[in-house]
Parts: sequence; structure tokens; C-alpha cells
Amino acid sequence: MSSLETSRSTHNERLASYGINFPLCLAPMVGLTHIALRLVVRQYLPLGAEVPWPTEMLNSRRLPNEKVGFTPETFRADEETFLMPQILGNDEKAIRESIKRLEIWGAQGIDINMGCPVQKALKHNYGVALMGDPQYAADVVRMATQSTKLPVSVKLRAAGTSSDFQYLLDFVTGLHESGAAWICLHPRTAAQKRRGSADWSQIKTLREAVSFPVVGNGDIQTVQDVYQMQEQTGCDLVMSGRGLAARPWMLWQMAEDRGLELPEALRNREAPRTPEEEGAEYGRCLLQFSELCEKYFGEDLGLRKVRFYIRTTSVWLQFGHTLVSLSTKSRNFEELRNNLLDFFKVPQVMHSYTELRQ
Ligand SMILES: Cc1cc2nc3c(=O)[nH]c(=O)nc-3n(C[C@H](O)[C@H](O)[C@H](O)COP(=O)(O)O)c2cc1C
Repeated sequence: MSSLETSRSTHNERLASYGINFPLCLAPMVGLTHIALRLVVRQYLPLGAEVPWPTEMLNSRRLPNEKVGFTPETFRADEETFLMPQILGNDEKAIRESIKRLEIWGAQGIDINMGCPVQKALKHNYGVALMGDPQYAADVVRMATQSTKLPVSVKLRAAGTSSDFQYLLDFVTGLHESGAAWICLHPRTAAQKRRGSADWSQIKTLREAVSFPVVGNGDIQTVQDVYQMQEQTGCDLVMSGRGLAARPWMLWQMAEDRGLELPEALRNREAPRTPEEEGAEYGRCLLQFSELCEKYFGEDLGLRKVRFYIRTTSVWLQFGHTLVSLSTKSRNFEELRNNLLDFFKVPQVMHSYTELRQ
């Protein structure tokens, strides 16, 4: 049995039929999970490992009028397999048209957002607003599953209180009956947005209550958190947003822990583990991320994306605030590169944990 098969059999089998054989994946994040970040994270994936990869949230009302593959949100590279774009929507025609375009683009699955809490989503009755209307939410899933043979997943938020758990259970059961292949639960309520702690016990309770796959998300900052979430909740796949964006080498650390084969570029190195090693790797990733942002998005948009990435992820760095101001000050990529090289010339410390706010 190969190492990868061993790793597959040590975690839950429910997602294996979809080709997923590694326990950690990246969460969809507007402004972050574009081609540049996905490529930076993907370089750490062990050979033969397969997990779904998100896009930024795509509005199904807009997609039918866009040149999918030629907008910054839908740029993709040839080596990007298992892309599962996330759509936001509630209108049948728009969902059908969007999925048709995304299939041609190369989607290998579709994720539906039922967790977005922004006012606009509430006003248009999509995102987390769908969680208030179980029947309509199930209809939205049916609209998607009837438009494609690809797996359709749903990402949603927690029940408001533990007494609402029955509601959540009925809600996800309806989604599954409409054809949802799996559910991802981010156990923070809409009111919590992305702050406060994620209530992993809801992932566990859901995992135990249903027979279909459950993906757990929220508060994963280190590989120890990945292992703890698996152990505490029994979830079939762990999804990390801000943590994995800041520490893409978590995939490498896990591969090393499991003895999995690494891509050639990593073979003669050891995964960073100490705060200084992680600080240095963050610097390497950031330089690479900046180059990719410049290449794919050009100066204006590219710089904005790098600044946003730094604002979100530098919270783990001891001097993250300095990095934020350096990136704000840099007027072009050349200045940014020089500032980053200067900053990381001095060994930087990356903390394991921080209070997540952004
Ligand atoms: C900047 C940012 C943008 C996000 N955009 C989306 C989104 O488009 N769709 C979605 O389902 N969740 C979105 N989320 C939520 C994340 O997918 C995830 O559920 C949340 O950050 C909790 O996971 P974490 O604690 O690992 O970051 C976003 C989060 C952040 C920080």
C-alpha cells in the first residue's frame, strides 16, 4: 500500500468516491482565493494528493455575461486540477447558465455559498439568507444538480444556538435530498461574521447525525488544529481559510508527518517548523505571491491584491503591522519587492496563534 493510500485509509472514506484523498483544503475567500494564492498553496501539495480548490465567490447573476476564464476571478492555470468554483445565487436560469460556462472552463465540481452574511446577499435572498428558507435553499441545490453531473457542495454557517441544531440538521438533510454531495460547515453564526471562536461541537454533532460527507471549517491555524479538528469532530475533510493562506506549507508539514512523497522542489528540504523558519517561509511565499499577482493582474489590481493578502495574513507575524505599512507605501511592484527583501533580511518570527479578526 502506498503512503498516500495509507493516508487515505486513515481518514474518512466518504469523500474518496469523489477523488479526495488528502485531509486539508483551502476555503473560498473573496479577494484571496484567486489564481496567485492557489498556485502558491498548491506547490506544497504532496504528489498524488487530490483536494478540491475554490475560486473566489462568483455571482451567478453576472457570470452569464462575463468571459469566464478571462476575468481576474476566473483566471486559472493549466496545472490547476479539481477546481470547484463557488457560486452565489438563487435564480434558476442564472445558475444553469453559470454552471454551463464553468463546466466549459473546466470546473470539476460546483460549490454553493449559503454562508455569505453581507447586506447585499441578504437583500437579494442568497448567501446566508438562504439558511432562513430551507425549502428554497433545497430548490437552489436542485437547480444546480439538475444542471450538471458534477458534484455540488454547499458551504454554510452554524445554527445560531445549539437549540437550533435540529433546524440545521433538517436544513442540510433537505440539501442532501436535493443532490448536494457534501456540506461544509463553518460553525460561526452570521452575527459572529468571522470573529469569535468557531463552535466545532456543531461539526461533530452534524457528522454524527448524517451519513453524507461533512467538511469542517473555522479557526484552523496550525497542523495541530487540523489533527484536533479531525479527532474532535470526525469530519471528512478539514477546510482552512486565513490559516492556510498565511501558512500554505501546512500541506508540506502534513505530508512530512505522513511520509508522503513531495514535489521535487521540496524534496531536499525540511518543512519549516520553528517561528523563525515559518517567518522565512512566509517571506518566500509572499515574494512569489507578489510576482504571480503582478503577472496575472498587472500593477494596479495586483498591488491591491498583495496588500489585502498582507492585511489578512500578517497578523501571525511579530511585526506584521510594519509589513502592512510597507505594502501600503509601495507605489509599484519594484518598490514592493525591495521593501519585502529588506523586511525579510532580518529574521522574522511567525506566531502559531493569533486572534482572528479580519
Ligand atoms: C477575506 C475573506 C473572504 C471570504 N469570502 C468567502 C466567500 O467568498 N465564500 C465563502 O463561502 N466564505 C468566505 N469566507 C469565509 C471563509 O471561507 C471561512 O469560512 C472563514 O474564514 C472561516 O475559516 P478560517 O477561520 O479558516 O478563516 C471569507 C473569509 C475571509 C477572511
